[in-house]
Amino acid sequence: MIPGGVNSATRRIGPPWAFDSARGARVVDLDGRDYLDFHAAFGAVLLGHADERVARPAAAAAARMDLVGLGVTALEVELAELVVEAIPCAEMTISTMSGSEAVAQAVRLARAVTGRRRILKFQGCFHGSYDAVARNVISPPERTGRWDPLSSGILPDALEHTLVAEFNDLASVQSLLEEHSGEVAAVLLEPTPHNVGALLPEPGFLEGLRELSSQHGALLVFDEVISGFRHALGGFQELSAVTPDLTTFGKAVGNGYPIAGLAGRADLLSEFSSAGGPVMLAGTFNGTASATAAAIATISVLKDPEVAFYEHVYGLGDRMRAGLREITGDLGVPATTTGLGSVFVTYFLDGPVRSYRDLLRNDDHAYLTFHRRMSERGFLMYPMALKRNHLSLAHTADDVDRTLEVADQVLRVMLRDGDLAGAERAR
Ligand SMILES: Cc1ncc(COP(=O)(O)O)c(C=O)c1O
Repeated sequence: MIPGGVNSATRRIGPPWAFDSARGARVVDLDGRDYLDFHAAFGAVLLGHADERVARPAAAAAARMDLVGLGVTALEVELAELVVEAIPCAEMTISTMSGSEAVAQAVRLARAVTGRRRILKFQGCFHGSYDAVARNVISPPERTGRWDPLSSGILPDALEHTLVAEFNDLASVQSLLEEHSGEVAAVLLEPTPHNVGALLPEPGFLEGLRELSSQHGALLVFDEVISGFRHALGGFQELSAVTPDLTTFGKAVGNGYPIAGLAGRADLLSEFSSAGGPVMLAGTFNGTASATAAAIATISVLKDPEVAFYEHVYGLGDRMRAGLREITGDLGVPATTTGLGSVFVTYFLDGPVRSYRDLLRNDDHAYLTFHRRMSERGFLMYPMALKRNHLSLAHTADDVDRTLEVADQVLRVMLRDGDLAGAERAR
């Protein structure tokens, strides 16, 4: 009855998975198999599954009020205050149900306030299902930087107005902005492109984008749907000290509950019809009580000095990355382990990794086999090339050490079975 048996196409990967429960760092499938979860719902789970500190207030909010859909609630105001306090660019904020909706609102708002049609995005960045941004993520070599829609059924017009630049390459941005002078409404990016693992901005890149956007009258929009609240309470913009005009957030902010948002300059967000402006703001479920309470509770845990969330996940991430580097180094496997804080990824290629084009050198077979074999042994790593892994507050140093032990075994088996062609070449 469900096409393909799943409600989001990227869930149909590997064996036909069906899950029964999820608690802490572990998930259990319908056959009773237990997995240590590094998929974490594509990063939507930051504290661990079914964390009581979130589940309880969310349930209490739901018991008191589901949704009135008129006016505002105290929960929505409290969340807005927390967001504005946490995120550097946030003078105002709105709640949405999903990251895709937040991005759609950002793009429409940018077009409305600038009176321009075009958006500039980057090869390798994903921004959800909205038509205007649905192109050029994990592109094959021949379509990298070229025409590569994510779906049929999108009006070509919607995609043609979206330009594609190269991450960490300011010259590619400058030349597109000059070629389309006066036409670009927004420069939109994941500041740490995690939809292809973990590309990290080189020093000066985000600063350069800030300058170029302002120079050319385009808004700078950070899509922090993955990085927001995960890498720092204020997102990657807090760490980089580069402040965009608008930012989206989602996933981790609700620790698994459906909530996302858009934040930014007050003069921009005041253009929404809710404030009397010309840009439509609509959404039946925006600000629903349980998800809003979940986001408030998640942020409260992230802020709690006794929990020391960021210390915990950065510590585990460093331990995991160092361990993976050591193992692949000792085995002579050509690999590049990278990431930031709670996100880690091992590409099967020789570095450095600066932009999507470098990732075309990844040995996809090795990557996939590694993730698949880890998952078969109960360490759930999403079995698709370039996809990242996530640590949460519920993971422990012991979890990391056990993962490393098994990773070592898996890589040895892969070497034996000839699943690491790059290693053969290196010998
Ligand atoms: C960076 C980024 N933006 C937007 C989205 C879309 O969010 P959602 O799936 O909640 O619509 C995603 C989803 O993976 C994302 O990674």
